[in-house]
Amino acid sequence: MDVRLRDAEVSDFDAITALYAGEVARGVATYELEAPDTDVMQQRWRAIVDGGYPYLVAESDDGFAGYAYASAYRTRAGYRWTVESTVYVAAHARGAGVGRRLMTALIERCTAQGFRQMIAVVGDADNAVPVRLHERLGFQRSGRFPGIGRKHGRWLDGLQMQRALGDGATTPPSE
Ligand SMILES: CC(C)(COP(=O)(O)OP(=O)(O)OC[C@H]1O[C@@H](n2cnc3c(N)ncnc32)[C@H](O)[C@@H]1OP(=O)(O)O)[C@@H](O)C(=O)NCCC(=O)NCCS
Repeated sequence: MDVRLRDAEVSDFDAITALYAGEVARGVATYELEAPDTDVMQQRWRAIVDGGYPYLVAESDDGFAGYAYASAYRTRAGYRWTVESTVYVAAHARGAGVGRRLMTALIERCTAQGFRQMIAVVGDADNAVPVRLHERLGFQRSGRFPGIGRKHGRWLDGLQMQRALGDGATTPPSE
């Protein structure tokens, strides 16, 4: 699939909101239970971009194909070199390398910006697709959280996966 990546724009948010709403309603990648509307998704985007984090969109010849962004892993200052990654691919575009392209670009951007660790929180530790995607990109399993979430009438084990960016923890960061 021919895929182009770029920074997200206001006009992407109907498609982003619809994709996320599908995952809220039917998936377990997010533990959110009520889908936010477009205004809320745009507010979240602006907060992420204003915080200095990348928010990327993938487009194919069929149009919008997915999105990925980085955000603060935790807000306490000592965590400021660690980002949490998020990636969603539109149902019609899955299995064609879009998630891998988005995540590769996100890793490159975050590395160039000086971040040192990236963490992905997989909502269902037994879901092979996101686990494999992240493993292929160099993430390692760094913690399983039994029964940490509940959705669709079942308890969910969360899985935290992590990879170093750039020098990781081997050299001091630049301020
Ligand atoms: C997880 C997700 C982002 C993957 O995106 P994608 O574009 O379908 O993935 P890719 O085509 O880039 O494939 C990435 C890897 O996963 C594997 N994969 C993709 N679909 C698969 C499937 N249905 N079954 C098994 N493996 C699969 C691919 O084989 C590939 O591994 P490989 O390089 O060893 O072949 C996408 O399925 C998605 O949006 N899921 C819902 C949201 C979600 O779970 N987000 C992750 C939150 S941490």
